[in-house]
Amino acid sequence: MTIIADLKTTATSFDGKNLIDYDRYPIAQPGHALRQKIIEKVKVNLAADGCALLDGFLSEFGLGIILNEALERRSTAYFSNNNRTNAYFSAPDPSLPNTHPVNIMMDRTNGFITSDQFEPTTNACQFYHWHPLPRFLADCLDKDQLYIYADPISNMIINVCSPGTQFNCHFDTNEFTITMLLKSASSGGYFEYAPAIRTADDENYQEVAEVLGGKSDRVKRLQLKPGDLQFFLGRYALHQVTKNTGDDDRLLIIMSFTEQPDVVGSKQRVKHLYGRLAKVHQPGAGTQ
Ligand SMILES: [Fe+2]
Repeated sequence: MTIIADLKTTATSFDGKNLIDYDRYPIAQPGHALRQKIIEKVKVNLAADGCALLDGFLSEFGLGIILNEALERRSTAYFSNNNRTNAYFSAPDPSLPNTHPVNIMMDRTNGFITSDQFEPTTNACQFYHWHPLPRFLADCLDKDQLYIYADPISNMIINVCSPGTQFNCHFDTNEFTITMLLKSASSGGYFEYAPAIRTADDENYQEVAEVLGGKSDRVKRLQLKPGDLQFFLGRYALHQVTKNTGDDDRLLIIMSFTEQPDVVGSKQRVKHLYGRLAKVHQPGAGTQ
């Protein structure tokens, strides 16, 4: 296996093991039997359901310190406007009926704390750049190697689902997502998904419409707890975060990795979702 490349943090005092429940998740020891057992379990769950959960992955210390770093930066969260979108993030098609999934528009009202708000010395940033983490994730996802997503605005972000906001039903464009819940909503804010509802060859619009209309029995609700690590294959699973009906934020950290180095987001997408750009967002630079 190749050593993870493109890491930017060189601090030597940081040890990601301190942020994990390391007795249960010895991810930094490639030969550890328990590590291999965890990897096999993740693979089985991803193959069956497109979703795998490592409950209590973060230690109490790790969860507390990353949550605190997120809360310190909460005032910087960006909530973009004009976010009525269909499940495909595409334009509606007037040649199709209003009831067609392509024409069912929904609200995405959640916001983000962007990665440029986290200095390299923060625990969240150092954990994201900690070599054993992407090596472990790559093994779980059956990838030769994973790279840090090179987008300086959005490679490690906090999804902020404030009271009254939601992330509408959608399919992801990326193959997999790595998230850790930092704080639950006191009410609502549930992650729900309809696994494998479409394939590369079949959009299965009829069942997608049933899910969007609340008439499908194939929707699952995940019981996520703060500190859990979630692998999710969202390209073929319709999914959403339901409206936060509580009185405080739901906070989730999203760590993005890529199979190729030097991948950044498209100028239009980064500007729309996060409200600003970095020097790397030159025309033609976007590949994700
Ligand atoms: Fe998604």
